[in-house]
Amino acid sequence: MPTRQLSLNLFIYPDGHHEAAWRYPSAEIARLTDVSWFQRLAQQAEQVAFDAVFFADGPVLAENIEYAPRFRLEPITLLAGIAAATSRIGLIATASTTYHQPYNLARLFASVDHQSRGRVGWNIVTTTNDAAAFNFGLDAHPSHAERYARAQEFLEVVTGLWDSWEDDAVLADPVGGRYADPAKIHRLDHEGRYFTVRGPLNVPRVPQGRPVYVQAGSSEDGRGFAARWAEAIFTAHQTLPSAQEFYCDIKSRALGLGRRPEHIRVLPGLSPFIGGTEAEAKRLQAEFNDLIQPGYSLQQLRQMLGVDFTGHDLDAPFPRHLIAPDNSRAVASRFQVVLDIVDREKPTLRGLLHRLAGARGHFVLAGTPEQVADHIETWFTQAAADGFNIMPPWLPGGFEAFADQVVPLLRRRGLFREEYARSTLRDHYGLPRPESRFAALPQRRAS
Ligand SMILES: Cc1cc2nc3c(=O)[nH]c(=O)nc-3n(C[C@H](O)[C@H](O)[C@H](O)COP(=O)(O)O)c2cc1C
Repeated sequence: MPTRQLSLNLFIYPDGHHEAAWRYPSAEIARLTDVSWFQRLAQQAEQVAFDAVFFADGPVLAENIEYAPRFRLEPITLLAGIAAATSRIGLIATASTTYHQPYNLARLFASVDHQSRGRVGWNIVTTTNDAAAFNFGLDAHPSHAERYARAQEFLEVVTGLWDSWEDDAVLADPVGGRYADPAKIHRLDHEGRYFTVRGPLNVPRVPQGRPVYVQAGSSEDGRGFAARWAEAIFTAHQTLPSAQEFYCDIKSRALGLGRRPEHIRVLPGLSPFIGGTEAEAKRLQAEFNDLIQPGYSLQQLRQMLGVDFTGHDLDAPFPRHLIAPDNSRAVASRFQVVLDIVDREKPTLRGLLHRLAGARGHFVLAGTPEQVADHIETWFTQAAADGFNIMPPWLPGGFEAFADQVVPLLRRRGLFREEYARSTLRDHYGLPRPESRFAALPQRRAS
């Protein structure tokens, strides 16, 4: 039996994850809307047999666009462009259950799963940015609980749509003159609180059965949702115990729901600054932090903590008392990650902005390739992670350093594959291909 292997994703922000990446001298800012830029990054990740590339998304323009290229190309269509230039690497896009209709979204992902021959994953989010509401005719962003209730029903509908064609529904029999067997294409007839959808989907069953379900919320509601639906989970942790608590909680919740724990890949974020020595790596990190613009960072912090610290002394201790216990963001998991940093490290306001500049609350590690590999191995072997979302501070250099210097160490330690064994994202993650619910019906098995 093969030993347990790491899953590694390349989490792509067009210029890199550090908020000042685009100001770094080697940045190629003119290419950030160019599909060939993303194709090249995906090809580089494919060369070292990464499981997937991943794109975040939200249907609203970032308020701090003045200070960084935080626009969003639509990621599902971007995946289609990348699919054409790659053959093995998985392709994961974020899409919101709050601001999509399930039929349209099921169709989009189904189309790209066909185009990529089974490499698509969907990062299911309920959308963090409140301002998205104003692009969809709403007066306010639905509450956290309401968003998760809608997400639950959304998943029931899209799963039904992806199941609506049985695997053998396509006859493709030109001699007999029958393309498809209508008895194997099913209506959904869903009528719920949020959606009414008849179905079936107008796309044949996809190579993976359905896209891989990825989830990226870690609140109480988020964990319940993930345990029920997720096959891979993106999450942010600053300490080993916090990651272990999350890992253990998710796996036991899934077990309680009759799922196999190994069918959920837990993937925390990791943003590495790599240097020949630790001092060199830290110098590199400081170079980036020196380029941040407080106008951007304060806005980012406001998004996470729901409080605007503009005008406060950047070099005074962080004004913790301004965060009230009934803060509207308190229910979201990233709020807690940031508050834990404040309570543990007691930074100045500027110190906190620097601390979050690299990866918005994900783990940032400035060290040698060995130190990065040690971190990965520790979390992987001590029940904190099944792999990582690698979040290079800048691109492509920050990823190239990881691919050239850390991946060989992980391979030497027997932790990461030398090459792909098979070709779908489900294969890479070691996930089963689900059967259509209709194929599983007793009357169908009997026929
Ligand atoms: C790695 C990672 C990526 C994420 N990407 C997105 C994203 O693209 N869009 C988004 O709205 N939220 C994103 N989120 C955040 C969660 O989905 C968000 O917090 C969720 O709406 C509420 O989750 P909660 O259960 O943690 O409160 C991401 C979270 C993580 C850990």
